[in-house]
Amino acid sequence: MTSRRKLIAGNWKMNASLAGNEDLLRGLIAGLNALKAEVGQEALPEILVCPPAPYWSQVGALLESSGIVQGAQDVSEHPKGAYTSELSVSMLQDFKLEHVILGHSECRRDQFQTDNLITRKVATVFQAGLIPVVCVGETQQEREQGQTQAVIKRQVLSALSLLPMDFDRVVMAYEPVWAIGTGLTATPPMAQEVHSLIRGLLASRTHHAHALRILYGGSMNASNAQTLLAQPDIDGGLIGSAALSSSDFLSIISAAVARNP
Ligand code: PGA
Repeated sequence: MTSRRKLIAGNWKMNASLAGNEDLLRGLIAGLNALKAEVGQEALPEILVCPPAPYWSQVGALLESSGIVQGAQDVSEHPKGAYTSELSVSMLQDFKLEHVILGHSECRRDQFQTDNLITRKVATVFQAGLIPVVCVGETQQEREQGQTQAVIKRQVLSALSLLPMDFDRVVMAYEPVWAIGTGLTATPPMAQEVHSLIRGLLASRTHHAHALRILYGGSMNASNAQTLLAQPDIDGGLIGSAALSSSDFLSIISAAVARNP
């Protein structure tokens, strides 16, 4: 059996404000402290929030000594230069951010990010000593046409292709595109099947596959988190809408505590 510590990550997307962030994080930290008193620090999952970049400074200060860390929603493949609107890994490092979501389906769709670009971003982040959180997932049409396995295989193997063999620092996230923000969720067995496929693909590139976390994302919420997190290869969640309410996010965190031995 494995002892992977669960990871609950909130992807705030383009949702934030100075006042709203403060409310959300104060509620979250208070709830987390209460939970910690009840179950003990050891039983808590790791917790990550990914706010929009203009709030890194504010969120960093609010999270000080909370045990919650913040990460980025994307990063440039380039170290610096004439790339208007982009953010570099050194900027993330200035704000002590370690995790970077890459290949989110909204970036693939809205910014036309290709598998090749995502592969280069994953390599850039890894080489900088940071932790890529690599998102993969099939569309509704791809699932209906029976292409889920092929799409996941292509996306995962491409994303990992520039990493050295035996890498031990990556988080994967399976996010079926049809489940993101729609209220539809993959059933736990459906998600487990893809997570197990991803674990096998990781194992073809690294001996550390058993120790790496694979998150599920796509309408994970207080009522479905428990059963999803009970699956053997689901090691946490990448949460969108439910990460914007401290009570909803805390319920998912509690569900992750319950799964820890
Ligand atoms: P959702 O988003 O929880 O709102 O479906 C998940 C994600 O896009 O990471």
